[in-house]
Amino acid sequence: MIAPSLLSADFARLADEAQRVADADWLHVDVMDAHFVPNLTLGLPVVEAIQRVSPIPLDCHLMIEAPERWAPGYAEAGSRNVTVHAEACTGDPRALARDLKAAGALAGLALKPGTPLQDYLEVLPDFDTLLVMTVEPGFGGQEFIADVLPKVREARRLVETGHLRLFVEVDGGVNDDTIGQAAEAGADVFVAGSAVYGAEDPARAIAGLRERARAAAAARAR
Ligand code: DX5
Ligand code: ZN
Repeated sequence: MIAPSLLSADFARLADEAQRVADADWLHVDVMDAHFVPNLTLGLPVVEAIQRVSPIPLDCHLMIEAPERWAPGYAEAGSRNVTVHAEACTGDPRALARDLKAAGALAGLALKPGTPLQDYLEVLPDFDTLLVMTVEPGFGGQEFIADVLPKVREARRLVETGHLRLFVEVDGGVNDDTIGQAAEAGADVFVAGSAVYGAEDPARAIAGLRERARAAAAARAR
């Protein structure tokens, strides 16, 4: 699946910008609180407004402190998937996953580049999505960190051996040059901000990314 990130869109025209990526699978919305990450973006009222006009399901990526308090509201707003950062959870992430699912969303757990997968193996069975950050969270337009790929590979192995059942999503620096490596490593959801909204024709950019991911995944399967 391809999930364009609204972070690189024109914030003054969010409804139009959502329409421009109607061919994609999920619309990725980066919520930043200026505490968990240095940047500040948008919050629940704006997500509720985007939800009303988006042609595709919302994938909310919460880069915020106290996710236990705020994340369920994003699920109640109708998001398809709500992802919280493992590093921000103060309580048991499994309880939060259950709350998100009870509110009708898929539950996602995000890991910063330096956070080991091993630390969360016990809680991941309760999640539907593992978001592997391929940049430090906070800003769009950064360079893809290929050193994170072993984490994607390990997650895919755990899915293939039946230990986990979840989407493996990559976020940060995903573009025509890097999406193949991520797909080859086993990712199946690809967030792309600047590669989609920075392109003259976002629909073409999405098709190109999808094609490259498909080809790399097929090569991997052989
Ligand atoms: C970064 C965000 C990403 C960002 C990706 O903290 O989580 O979703 O929008 O932007 P690009 O694709 O430009 O790296
Ligand atoms: Zn994101």
